[in-house]
This record gives sequence, structure tokens and C-alpha cells, in this order.
Amino acid sequence: MKNLKAIMEKMDLRDKLCEISQLYGKLETAEDGRVFMGINYRFDSDRFMDDNIGSLLGVSGAKALIEIQKKHLEKSKHKIPLIFMHDIIHGYKTIFPSPLALSCSWQPELARKSSRIAAKESAVSGLHLTFAPMADLAVDARWGRVVETSGEDVYLNSLFSRAYVEGFQGNDVKDSFSIASCVKHFAAYGLAIAGKEYNTTEASEYNLRENHFPSYKSALDAGAKMVMTSFNALNGVPASGNKWLLQDILRKEMGFAGVVISDCTAIVEMINHGYCEDSAGACQKALEAGVDIEMVSITYFKEAEKLIEDGRLDSKLIDNAVMNVLKLKEELGLFENPFKDADEELEREVVLCKEHRDYARETARESIVLLKNDGVLPLSKGTQKVAVIGPVANSRQMLDVWFAYGEEKDCATLYEAIQNDYGVRYAKGVGILTENKKEIGEALELAKSSDIIILALGEAPLMSGESGSRSNINLPGFQEKFADEIFALGKKVIVVLYNGRPLAIPALNEKANAIIEAWLPGTEGNNALRDIIVGDYSPSARLATSFPYNVGQCPICYNRYNTGRPPKNEMKPARFSAGYVDCGVTPLFPFGYGLTYTTFEYSGLKISADKMTRTDTLTVSCMITNMGTREGIEVAQLYIRDMAGSLIRPIRMLKGFERVSLKPNESRLVTFEIDNEMLKFNTMDNGYCSENGKFRVFIAENAHDTNFVEFTLV
Ligand code: GLC
Repeated sequence: MKNLKAIMEKMDLRDKLCEISQLYGKLETAEDGRVFMGINYRFDSDRFMDDNIGSLLGVSGAKALIEIQKKHLEKSKHKIPLIFMHDIIHGYKTIFPSPLALSCSWQPELARKSSRIAAKESAVSGLHLTFAPMADLAVDARWGRVVETSGEDVYLNSLFSRAYVEGFQGNDVKDSFSIASCVKHFAAYGLAIAGKEYNTTEASEYNLRENHFPSYKSALDAGAKMVMTSFNALNGVPASGNKWLLQDILRKEMGFAGVVISDCTAIVEMINHGYCEDSAGACQKALEAGVDIEMVSITYFKEAEKLIEDGRLDSKLIDNAVMNVLKLKEELGLFENPFKDADEELEREVVLCKEHRDYARETARESIVLLKNDGVLPLSKGTQKVAVIGPVANSRQMLDVWFAYGEEKDCATLYEAIQNDYGVRYAKGVGILTENKKEIGEALELAKSSDIIILALGEAPLMSGESGSRSNINLPGFQEKFADEIFALGKKVIVVLYNGRPLAIPALNEKANAIIEAWLPGTEGNNALRDIIVGDYSPSARLATSFPYNVGQCPICYNRYNTGRPPKNEMKPARFSAGYVDCGVTPLFPFGYGLTYTTFEYSGLKISADKMTRTDTLTVSCMITNMGTREGIEVAQLYIRDMAGSLIRPIRMLKGFERVSLKPNESRLVTFEIDNEMLKFNTMDNGYCSENGKFRVFIAENAHDTNFVEFTLV
């Protein structure tokens, strides 16, 4: 155990300010020829800072990082090792399905195991920490970063956040092939108003505590070593200067004792927010709020010294931040071994190895959601006159914006993946955003001479992810118009969607014979899709986010409040009720929805008693039967509704689920225990308890199910 205090005592103020600053690790040469520890924001970094910086982001590779660490330890004043940090969100070079896709597997263990693999590939490549998981809740499909979330439900999101941290960190971040995890973006970035990227967020404490804080807390309970502050202002105060958020909630209430890092330039952006007048003010507010590391903007380095001289800043705040950073380096074992797991030999052996690719294929199979199927799927091998048409039919764009070191060249196209199973022919038809008559003509000709058309449509990866908000959520460009021309030929059409966010596809849903939601499925995505199309694997994924009918419904989540005038029929337009005159209030596809290659019947829903005290547990059960001719997996979902409370309560809350594999005609009794813990909620004046009264319990195939039993808490 290093004597960190002794190390800190040797540091003067400038040394300390470098230790709590982070730059991009790329070397850049300015116009005047000076070489900087490069940053895209062209701050006038300076040589002393470059030599003594505390951590770097955005560089990787065993050879490169060993080199940088060596040079740093030679040149830096106190020989304190660097931490190398990076965005390894869902894979390092072997890229797994985007987090939103993976959450549709309803299997947190896939997140645990895939992030274990991502950690290993990252560690041998020299990295020490990843800026993941992103625990923000997805509430508005217009927001680009829904692709990075684990969906709209707090319970499922919390399970995945925990699983990612456990995967990245293993038992101890010091262990080989473990990396530290940084949960982000604290907090409630997903509430960006109108889904507009980086927009302001406003939320009641009730909403924050019920829906947004738990998934960050779940990551912290799993031991996440770092928290990243979000870009957004929350209720009038930018997160990076928000003492209530970072001190009262994060440090005191959640008990977090690790490192807080700002998002990239988020500290200096507080000037734009209008929260401070200049970078000195930004520096002061961030340090007073308790941001330990400033990412890329360098107000700490430039402003803190004078603020302390002028008596505007307590130097103890700097010492606290430095100590938090040194502790993290100690926990990572970097003082003993500054190179940790960096190993060129292992890097060559482990990164993108077959075992990792195979698992990427498995996770993609579990993440692909079957939205519609009139029986055309599975498409038996050997079927002839199959055409694969569309902008994504022969595309390698399977990776979302956080593709880290993943490469599209490693991704098979759909056309390639199904080549050997069908006599498949290909035509592009239209681009994602473009069209030309010749290509359309060729595609229609091919379609006319085919029996089955697999129509591969979607968004370009850059249309979601950071700064990927869209003002509408239709299929981009001319794809819908083109799809109509294909449908008009009267052939069997299987639509495959590649998109980062839920899309509004009611017309497609009318006309297609089948719709498969492939999301952005990662390196092995199309090979996994092939397994589903040919029927080697029956899809079992369920939506972790609602699919709106149209963008006007956004934000739309299953766990909404009933209002004083709930529409009699939620599917229909309505007057004088909480709805629209031109559209229903239910999404096209609800949370929890997904088809398989069989069908299931629920029967005999019952509850062990109609009254419950706080020390009781009730058992709710129902029989699930596979009514089809193929084995399949049903995800039985447990929802609870608190009929009345001292604060209004959602019409549904997911409180559990069970994946049940059933053979044809096989039945299984699925049971759930209801206990008092499940009934608690954040009451007024920060209480957290259950309240007497009536509850409804659903064991359902998705959030739209209406079959329930009731009990009363006494
Ligand atoms: C970006 C993202 C954040 C990421 C960070 C470092 O702006 O908001 O998620 O971890 O910068 O790349």
C-alpha cells in the first residue's frame, strides 16, 4: 500500500492541478509547429502540463500505451503513473450489440460476460478504465443516445448497469484483465427536453428518485470506481457544478467515495449554460461541487492557482480531488505495475479471437427482436428466388458510434451471411438518404423475378448515439416510399431494420409479412441474423423500449400515469380524455413485446391471498403453455400497479421476469413472490415506504397485458 499522503506532500499546486486534469492522448501539432498532448479542442495546453498530466483518454494499443507510460514516468516530476481511460461501451474490437439491443435480451448475464470480454481485450491493449456503463434512462426516441441505454425501465436498466460493472471490474480492478468502470452520465441526461441532444432537463425529485437515480446507484452498489457528470443542466444547475447532485445525492445519500470526472469539456461549458461568467468561475464551481478530474477543458490548470490566491477557492478541495485520483491509481495497482496488463503478445492472441466473435454472435441472436411474422419465418434453407434488397442489404455498418476499435471490415453483410443458405441475389434499391431511378429500377426488376424479398432498411449509425438526435423517427430518406413500391409487387416481404433507436413504422407494419428488429448488432450481427432467418435459432428478445406510432407520441413509456381522464380505448384517438384526436396513446409495439417462432398461452392467473401485511409474501402464479410446433422461450413479466398512493403511481411497474423455455405443448407454472420491498416508493419529504391499499398484479407477455389479480396491503 503506497503512502499516498507522502506522495501528495511532495506535490506543489501546479503538480496537483495536472494530476486532476485529463487530456486526449493523441499527439497534435499546432499551426506554429508546437507538439501538444493532443486535444481536439485546441486549448493552449503547455509543456509542463503535458509532462505531468494525471490521466489520458482516447488512446489505446499495448505498444503505444507502454511507450507513453514509459515516457511519462521518465519526464514527469513525481513519477505518478498515468491512468489510461477510454469509451469501451459494448466491446473493444469484438463489438457486441449496442446496449439498447442487448437490454432486449432481458439477460443481464450477457452484459456481464460481454463486458468481461471487452475488459480483457481492453486490458491487454493497455487500458485501465472504461467510461461505461451508461446508466441513463431512455425516455424519448428522438434522443440519439437511447442507443447506448438499457431502455426505458428502471428495474431492467438497474440490472444491466450492475451487470456491466461486474463484468468490467471482475472481483477486483487490480486483477488481470479487469478494468475500472465509470458509470455515466450523472444525472438524468436522458431527460433532454424534446430529445434534443445536450438539452436542459427538468424533473421532480419524485421522478428522479423513482426512475433515474436507481440505475446509477445499482452501478455504484456493484462497485463502480468512477462517476461521470453529464452535460445537461438539471433543474437549473449544470451537473458539473451541481452540489445537490454531487454532494447531497452522490456522496452523502449514495455513499460514493470514488472519483468524479466531468464529461468532455462539460466544466468550461458551464459558461455557455450561463451558470458562470468565465473559466475561473467554471473552475471554482466544479471544484466546489466536487468534480475530481476535469476532462479535456483545462480550467483547473489555468484558473485554480489565482482563485486560491484571491481567497475564492479552498486549496483543500484540490487535495481531496488529488487524493481520490491517487487512491484509484493505487486500487488499480499502477504504482506497483504502471503497465498493468498491457501485452503485445496477448493483444495479438486475444483481441477479436474466435471465442469472442462466437460470443458476439450469441449475444446478437439474443438481442434481435421479432416484431411481426405471418409465418413466412423461419425461411427454410434452400428456398430459391430469394432477393435481399435495400440500403443495408449488403452493408457492413453494424456498429454504433461507440465502436471503439471495432472495424466494419470485420462485419459480414446480410447478403454474405445468407449467401450459402439461399440462392440469394442482391440489389441496393435506395440509399439510406438517397435514391436514383436506375438503382430503383434494377431492384424492382430483381424483386419481380423473386418470390421472397428480404428488405434491409434502417438508419446510418451516425443518426443515433452522441449528437445523433433526430426531429422525427421515421425511416430516413426515401426508404418508406421505396418499400411501398416493393410491397406493391405482391411478393412475400421480410423487413429487417438496422437502427439505433425505436422507429415509427406503422405503415411498414401494415404491409410487411415479417419485421425483424436487428438494431446495430455488432461484429457478428448479420451472422446472428442468419441463424434466426433460417430457423437455427428461435428469437426470444423482447423490447426494452416502446416503439411509438409516431414522433408526436414522444416521450412515451409504458410506466406512465393514468391521469384524471384516461381514454376508454388507449388504441384509439379520443376527445375529452388524456389522448390525441388523431392517434391513440399506446405505442405501435409496447415495452416487453417480442415474438418467437411459436406462441404461448397464459392461463390460471392466481394469487395466494387477497390480503397482505408487510411481513407476508404472496405468491402469484400462472400457467404458460407452448401452443406451437417449435420450442420457444417466453419472457414472463411481473408488473405491479399501486392503485392509490400519497403520490400518484404508474399504471404498471416491472418488478420481475422469468425466461421460460418450453417445448411444443409443454406447460410450466410460473410463480413470483410479492414482498413488501416491491411495494415501496419514494414518498413525499424523502420517505421510502409502502402504503396500505389495493394493488394489481400482472403476469404478462408485455406491458399491454390487461389480465390481473388484486390484493390489499393492510
Ligand atoms: C463524450 C461523451 C461521453 C464520453 C466522453 C469521453 O462527449 O458524452 O459519454 O465518455 O465524451 O469520450
